[in-house]
Parts: sequence; C-alpha cells; structure tokens
Amino acid sequence: MVTEQGRWSTRIELGERSYPIHVAQGLLGETGILIRETLPGVTKSVIVTSPIINDLYGKELKESIGGVELDPGVSLVPDGEEAKSWDHASGLIGEFLDHELDRKSVVVALGGGAVGDLAGFTASIYMRGVRVVQVPTTLLAQVDSSIGGKTAVNHPKGKNLIGAFHQPALVAADPALLGSLPPREIRSGLGEIVKLGVISDHELFRQVEDRGDALLRADPGEMTEAIRRCVSIKARYVELDERDSKGVRAALNYGHTLGHALEALTSHGLRHGEAIVIGMVAASHIAEEMGLIGEPEVQRQVRLFEELGLETRIPELEASTLVEVMHRDKKAEGGSIRFVLPTGIGREPVLRPVPDERVTRVLEEMMDG
Ligand SMILES: NC(=O)c1ccc[n+]([C@@H]2O[C@H](COP(=O)([O-])OP(=O)(O)OC[C@H]3O[C@@H](n4cnc5c(N)ncnc54)[C@H](O)[C@@H]3O)[C@@H](O)[C@H]2O)c1
Ligand SMILES: [Zn+2]
Repeated sequence: MVTEQGRWSTRIELGERSYPIHVAQGLLGETGILIRETLPGVTKSVIVTSPIINDLYGKELKESIGGVELDPGVSLVPDGEEAKSWDHASGLIGEFLDHELDRKSVVVALGGGAVGDLAGFTASIYMRGVRVVQVPTTLLAQVDSSIGGKTAVNHPKGKNLIGAFHQPALVAADPALLGSLPPREIRSGLGEIVKLGVISDHELFRQVEDRGDALLRADPGEMTEAIRRCVSIKARYVELDERDSKGVRAALNYGHTLGHALEALTSHGLRHGEAIVIGMVAASHIAEEMGLIGEPEVQRQVRLFEELGLETRIPELEASTLVEVMHRDKKAEGGSIRFVLPTGIGREPVLRPVPDERVTRVLEEMMDG
C-alpha cells in the first residue's frame, strides 16, 4: 500500500511484534525520519555495518539518523560471513556498552544478510533484547533475510546454530543501493526472487522472464517492483507461521534442502542463491518424476536460470555425499529426506519425503560427465 507520505509499505501483523517494511528508491536518507515515526521513544542508536558498506552508505545513513537528533555511534564488523560468529556478537555487546545503549535504544543494521543476522542476533540478547532496524543493502537481504525475525551466528560445527527469533521494529529497503552490488550478488538474489515466483506469484516469475536484463543491471525501477512483490509474499508467510513451526513457512525452503548441502560441501564457494537454484532444479526433476509438475514447467524454470547466467548443474561432488549431508540436515525426518516439491509456477508447493534412490538418481543426472 502507499502511505500518506506517498511511500510504499506493507506491515507484518504479529500483535505487539508488528512492524512496517518500506521499499522505495532514496529511502536511505529518510531512515532517520522513519525511525522517529515508528519508534517515537528511542533515545540512542548505533549503526552496525562492515567497512565496505560503511564507505558506500554509512555517511548518508549517519546523517539521516543524526538529522532527527539520534546521533548514532558506528560499530564496524568484518565483511560477509566472517562476521557471523559468537566472538563478534560478544565484541559487539562490548561496543553497545561503550555507546551506552540502554533498553530503549535501537540497533540499525546496515548491510547484507551477514550483517543483518549478526546485528539482529546481538540485539536479541543485549540487555534481554533491544530493537533492531534493518536497512538491507543486498538483493538477498531486501527480499528475504531482513524480514521475518530469524537471526543467527555460526558455530564451528555448523551454520546458524546459535540464534533467536527477533522481529525487527522496522525494515527500510532502498533498491537504489543495489547499484553498487557485484553482478554475482545480483544474480544470486534473483535466484531467491524466482523461488518466490514459483511458490506463489506467477506474475513475479513473468517479470523476471520478461525483464531479466533490466533486473541484472539492477535497474532501480524494475528492482523496486520485484522487491515489493517479494516482500509482500514473505510478509504473508511470516504472519501465518512466525516461528516456522507449522510447516507453512516450509514453502520458502523450496530449493534449500539440496542448496544447504551444496553450500556446506563447497565451503561457501557458491553464493546462497546460486546453491538454491541448483536445489530448485533438483526438486523440480523429483516433482516431475512423481507426477506433481509437468515437464514444460520444469524446463521453463531451467531456461530462466540459464538466461540469468545461473548454473543449473551440480558441481564436482558425489551424489552419495550430498544425500548423506541432507540426512544430517534437520529436514530429514523418519528415514527419508523431505523436499519442498513444486506443483506449478505460482502454485503452492508440497512437502514430501523422497526415497534416497530417487534423490540419488536425479542428482546423478544433474552431474557433468
Ligand atoms: N535471517 C534470515 O532469514 C536469512 C535468510 C537468508 C539468508 N540469511 C543469511 O544471509 C547471509 C548472506 O547474506 P547476503 O547474501 O546478503 O551476503 P553478505 O551479507 O555476505 O553480503 C555479500 C557481499 O556484498 C557486499 N555488499 C553488501 N551490500 C552491498 C552494496 N550495496 N554494494 C556493494 N557491496 C555490497 C558485502 O560487503 C559482502 O561482501 C548468510 O549468512 C545467510 O545465512 C539469513
Ligand atoms: Zn534462502
């Protein structure tokens, strides 16, 4: 919807944890005003970001928040996945104390999913929880990770093993910030966008098919439209199943069963979106074999991924190793691995156990040589 101030926004309705998500070009400079409007009682603030992102957008955000008399401190954390550790969460708590943040303060996460997850997690435990505002700067963060309240850091034994549900108080996504994103990050984010199209929005899928070039160029107008659609979809899933316990949010895991295994086995040599694209192709082939989706709708997805320059074949790995890793993942229950299987483009997928033999066969067909 468009607000009185002419801004597009949607709300996630979760009782006292409800919050607005704004998506518009030029929003970065309005973050201060949005914080004041949404959280009138805030006393202090700190921006958590990485050096690269701080160089690009830190100054504008700091000025915007300073402009509403909330002169923020800045805490720098390492760039990318490295930030997501217990040690960096602990270090950040020390900085929050130095900045004298209290229970009425707000943490502003400026960055991609890595910064957002670390800042959100640390905010969830600092003084038993302070509010966090997400200012996502990657496509993946704007359409996915900044929304929904999942926060986590990694443990040496695995990804996202230390975490909490902590809904943000506000999300302000400015698609203009994506102009500086490396092309590979754009493509990876488009993987998540296509996922949302397949599981619930045929129009969105069509937009990527028809105007993929503009999206790959991070055209702000085109991006704004796609991101708004994605945010609306994700918001509705979160409302239905806030803590991902009813199986409703499971649809969002389309492509993620194999995707996570690929990420783990390639030690993050694949970006998240790249890994789930391969996962979606595998799930589609499995669904086709099970008579859940027609071949043309599988090929339509494969064609789109190829047009976007996304790999759809499995890199040099053993099918048996992948199956083993998927069994270890929490989605394997009662012997068989459960997959989110598509039933069409823009149609609700289904969650089904799939026998190992079928999974192995499909994976082997997706390998080169
Ligand atoms: N909480 C959730 O619900 C959720 C959902 C999906 C993924 N995640 C997490 O998100 C993380 C991945 O996030 P990501 O893909 O955003 O990667 P990222 O946060 O690691 O950022 C990727 C790179 O892009 C750079 N960057 C960020 N914004 C930029 C900009 N505007 N211009 C130029 N460079 C920029 C960063 O410095 C970094 O090097 C993973 O840790 C994953 O577990 C969380
Ligand atoms: Zn994902």
